[in-house]
Amino acid sequence: MWQKTGLTYPIKPQIFNFACFKKSLLNQHMAEQNSKPCKKFKRYTVTSALPYANGPIHIGHLAGVYVPADIYVRYLRLKGEDVISICGSDEHGVPITIQARNEGVTPQEIVDKYHNMNKRSFEDFGISFDIYSRTSMELHHKTASGIFRKLYDEGKLLKQDTQQYYDEENRQFLADRYITGTCPVCNYEKAYGDQCESCGSSLSPTELKNPRSMLSGNKPVMKKTRHWYIPLDQYEPMLKQWILEKNKNKWKSNVYGQCKSWIESGLKPRAVTRDLKWGVKVPIENTEGKVLYVWFDAPIGYISATRQWAEMNDTDWKPYWKDKDTKLVHFIGKDNIVFHCIIFPVILYAEGTYVLPDNVPANEFLNLEGDKISTSRNWAVWLHEYLKEFPGKQDVMKYVLCAAAPETKDNDFTWKDFQARNNNELLAIYGNFVNRTMVLTQKYYNGIVPSGSKPSEKETEIIKQMTGFADRIGSSLENYRFREALSEMMNLARLGNKYLTDAEPWKIHKTDPQKVENILNRCLQICAVLSVLSEPFLPFTAGKLKKMLNISQMNWDTAKKEVILPQGHKLNKPQLLFEKIEDKQVEAQLKKLCDAKQANLENEKPNIESIKPDATFDDFSKLDLRTATILKAEKVSKTKKLLKLQVDTGLDVRTIVAGIAEYYKPEELEGKKIVVIVNLKPRNIRGITSGGMLLMANDNKEGLKFVTTDKSCENGSVIT
Ligand code: 2FM
Ligand code: ZN
Repeated sequence: MWQKTGLTYPIKPQIFNFACFKKSLLNQHMAEQNSKPCKKFKRYTVTSALPYANGPIHIGHLAGVYVPADIYVRYLRLKGEDVISICGSDEHGVPITIQARNEGVTPQEIVDKYHNMNKRSFEDFGISFDIYSRTSMELHHKTASGIFRKLYDEGKLLKQDTQQYYDEENRQFLADRYITGTCPVCNYEKAYGDQCESCGSSLSPTELKNPRSMLSGNKPVMKKTRHWYIPLDQYEPMLKQWILEKNKNKWKSNVYGQCKSWIESGLKPRAVTRDLKWGVKVPIENTEGKVLYVWFDAPIGYISATRQWAEMNDTDWKPYWKDKDTKLVHFIGKDNIVFHCIIFPVILYAEGTYVLPDNVPANEFLNLEGDKISTSRNWAVWLHEYLKEFPGKQDVMKYVLCAAAPETKDNDFTWKDFQARNNNELLAIYGNFVNRTMVLTQKYYNGIVPSGSKPSEKETEIIKQMTGFADRIGSSLENYRFREALSEMMNLARLGNKYLTDAEPWKIHKTDPQKVENILNRCLQICAVLSVLSEPFLPFTAGKLKKMLNISQMNWDTAKKEVILPQGHKLNKPQLLFEKIEDKQVEAQLKKLCDAKQANLENEKPNIESIKPDATFDDFSKLDLRTATILKAEKVSKTKKLLKLQVDTGLDVRTIVAGIAEYYKPEELEGKKIVVIVNLKPRNIRGITSGGMLLMANDNKEGLKFVTTDKSCENGSVIT
């Protein structure tokens, strides 16, 4: 197989031995997990995708990754688990170098700016990472190159010499993103070497027509280079067993489905080095100008960040990555699935001493007001701007993003929904319930918890219901069903709110004081349970609520108790938890988006110079435009672009030669209604006299398309 791909081993050839795999860590894991379906883990290592440090964080990032990850780790902490939440900036990769070049600064300056900005935004927003590290730090370079070197020394990487585009003026091999040219699929002239952003096709640089180096603008030349590969195909048996068998019913179907299709379409060795200056240097002799592929080093960033955290906390990082009793969970967006479910696990597995992820609960994408979020089009809600415009409203956004999380399919964020969820749910249910309970307790009992010693049947029932929420919400969270968990948390607030409304203590305060004591005691217990169970979702609110209730941090399981606040416990003064969001605030946000759209349209307007000079009406009326029908079409021999058409113009049947063979097959054209200019002077094209011109529209994406008329329009009708 290796000869076929032309790959050769660097040193000590060593084919992956499937027999060894039987004794592997993975199998130990599997055996234990199969015998104990509800394995209890000793500790949790929870990672959140490291955002690239070349732009700010927006709500799409939050909804996809950081909000669910933070809810999950906060829940685990409340359960008393040993958990670390790991994140940091991904500071390598070609886009960062391109941005630095465009802005005339160094890549380090770019990553410094955005690392600090994003770290701050996450802190302000209340995303509780235990460490927010960065991949440009020395410890990360050491960790990533250490793992690479181990794989290399053990013969687990393959080396291959290939031809790659090279910029002679800059004396540099060109990463795919550094090459631009015309897309072979849609003819878009600014496609990249790896992708066309106009039609979305994934490309390789050699497919581009008219390739140009983005560094010099020159045509690049092909030059020999050498790279190292991780032979993913050798790990297919282990991936099949681990993902397709073991995790089939455990991983989310969107994640499992993507992995299955990757594995089944056949894995190939994947290059893990690049010719670039910015990144982790390849730790092999004579590899000047080469760095590790960003997707090799970035996930190792989770390990380096854990090491940094351990150093800072004077503890050992290894159990968090190497002990089989550790549950490793990666929170990511769907575009990162293959890297976290296939490539990174293969690297960890090949290294041999690491655990593999237990789960990778990837989310789909969040759209904004019906359109794809886009940094370059400024179609986004930026976290740092939101925090300025809605100070103190972190929980509102967190709530809305969790409620509308793209858990199983892409979803849409709208400012109207944001307003409605704040006003009709957080404010009208949670806030209203807590506020009424607190205010009535102040008013009737001077803020002291009344006795709940004589509960009626109704109150006993309410308490029973209240104690069931912790397990239900916990179970949803453990299964990564965050929307379900959130809605259940809100059901608890709903339960309290409805109970209070139905019981109407204000009406019987004078006539049945004991009943009122019981009612408010129950409502206060519900508030206390809410302050625990809402903490993962609404940490700031839960904190304020605990302060009002004058209680400190509590374990999740405390929320299963019937009584949290003892009779006689003194409460603090009530304060409002939520504020109404007014129409004008929403309108201001929509206006901002409208302005962004307008600015985009202006940018996309054709260059004024490309608009032709004014024409008079007389100029236009000189042209005789008629509707016509194509009777016959055939290729002009020895040409790629030309078709010879027989066209019925209503005046005559004439021959027209048109350069449309790339866009239409002859058999598609017979019977097509078209528009023809019939009074142009005939031209000789490749020895054929062409008696007119067809009207075509040049679509940016798909090239030439006919200007047509209604089929019922008679041939020869004059276009005026
Ligand atoms: O897609 C991204 O934004 C990447 N920077 C995610 C990296 S996740 C991990 F591998 F570091
Ligand atoms: Zn294209």
